[in-house]
Amino acid sequence: MKIGLFYGTTSAATEEVANLIQESLESCEVELFDIYKEPLEKINEFENIIIGCPTWDIGLLQEDWRTKFDDLDTLDFSNKKVAYFGCGDQHVYSGTFLDALGTLEEKITAKGATTIGQWPVEGYSFDYSKAQKDDKFVGLGIDNDNEPELTEDRVSAWCKQIESEFA
Ligand SMILES: Cc1cc2nc3c(=O)[nH]c(=O)nc-3n(C[C@H](O)[C@H](O)[C@H](O)COP(=O)(O)O)c2cc1C
Repeated sequence: MKIGLFYGTTSAATEEVANLIQESLESCEVELFDIYKEPLEKINEFENIIIGCPTWDIGLLQEDWRTKFDDLDTLDFSNKKVAYFGCGDQHVYSGTFLDALGTLEEKITAKGATTIGQWPVEGYSFDYSKAQKDDKFVGLGIDNDNEPELTEDRVSAWCKQIESEFA
């Protein structure tokens, strides 16, 4: 299975997670795109997509996603499955934890995409997240600032989940 993984990163945490996801999805052909260097139009080449975005500046998208956010309007997401992951800090930014995931999922869903890879909020501690719908995040939440020891297991479990949801 071919998957395009598009991520933005400022201090490299999301890039590390992107690499872990690529390794974990061993039966898939995962191509990584750092959106700072690659045009977002590459999304058009994939039906199965993973989007990675940390939250910055109190509830905002990481700056490369902020710059390219309006470009999403030029892309067609109908018939595409999209999974989301994001890095955040549930303690210091407890009121805006992983908000960027919620912002991107809302936009891309409105463009016709089907979201897969929703992930339980159980096990995290935060006040509010724009990424939360009922008892799930719209995608995988990673907190390398406070819980780096959980990252590998979270990624591994999520990858098993999305592998069957993409299929
Ligand atoms: C100034 C600043 C603002 C931040 N704002 C948020 C936030 O609103 N919500 C959140 O979940 N994390 C927030 N974070 C935490 C980052 O998302 C986290 O450190 C993440 O791992 C950074 O990912 P990156 O290294 O891929 O850029 C913030 C961090 C900094 C330094």
